[in-house]
Amino acid sequence: MGETSVAVVTGAASGLGLGLAAGLVARGMSVVIADINGDALARAQQRLRVDGAEVLAVRTDVTKDDEVAALASRTLDQFGRVDIVCLNAGVNLRGRAWELSVDDWRWIYDVNVFGVVHGIRSFVPILLEEGAGHVLITASNSAVATLPALAPYVSSKHAVLALAETVQHDLLEVGSDVRVSVVLPGAIRSGMADAVRNRPADYGSAQVSAEVLHASRAFLERYGSDPRTMADDILRQALDKHCFCVFTDPADTATLLTHAQALGEGRLPTVTAPVFQENR
Ligand SMILES: NC(=O)c1ccc[n+]([C@@H]2O[C@H](COP(=O)([O-])OP(=O)(O)OC[C@H]3O[C@@H](n4cnc5c(N)ncnc54)[C@H](O)[C@@H]3O)[C@@H](O)[C@H]2O)c1
Repeated sequence: MGETSVAVVTGAASGLGLGLAAGLVARGMSVVIADINGDALARAQQRLRVDGAEVLAVRTDVTKDDEVAALASRTLDQFGRVDIVCLNAGVNLRGRAWELSVDDWRWIYDVNVFGVVHGIRSFVPILLEEGAGHVLITASNSAVATLPALAPYVSSKHAVLALAETVQHDLLEVGSDVRVSVVLPGAIRSGMADAVRNRPADYGSAQVSAEVLHASRAFLERYGSDPRTMADDILRQALDKHCFCVFTDPADTATLLTHAQALGEGRLPTVTAPVFQENR
């Protein structure tokens, strides 16, 4: 019998990350869960360990390159290998581009973009050395759409999509079999509306009005998919069907095409999906 595969998931204490970790455990893998929120991470570890799954929890702030490097080292120390890396941690904050503070912008880019960059720098060399592996990067369907009042988030997710494509090309150019998949989920019933709960003090405090908080929570509650079910769908598409680009809603393909068509014709893409219209 072969060795048990090992997966690492960032942002694994909640929402989609927790769903992915549960899905990977269900596939018989050993899983390393990482998150900035140590208490929530410990609770997630308890939940995932039922049925005797091997789950290592490593508190990690993905904005810190050295902490992500330490996560990779802990994984190798414990399990001696890595097969799947889910770079999933992400945060969001609504507001007009010119009104959000530089700290707001930095926080979102540090988690959503540099969190992925740090993961790539720490884990891809290990996978290259092993000769195989799969990196799943969580972007968002907003990487292929236009959404007002979300400039840092949407632009960071566009960056993540381009990053995933480029890294996969880089890997192919060096003759590697390491795969990359980019995940573009639609709305998820998760803690994302309350993302500021995990904002480190170095970025100062964020201004989120009670009205915006209520509307964001209500939106995810109403339209969000169950993260565990979504995770299984994502893992099927990425790991079993080898999709590079993983959508969770077929309507998002049309959104992507409409968006690209408008750009190609020199027009500003419109906010196409009704579900987005309502989330303003
Ligand atoms: N919620 C949605 O509707 C939605 C839609 C599309 C894409 N996404 C993406 O899915 C991913 C998961 O988000 P979610 O919806 O499950 O939200 P969530 O808030 O439930 O989970 C995000 C997790 O990331 C962790 N995190 C935040 N900052 C971190 C840091 N610096 N280092 C390590 N961990 C950190 C949080 O503690 C939390 O446990 C994100 O990349 C998000 O952008 C979410």
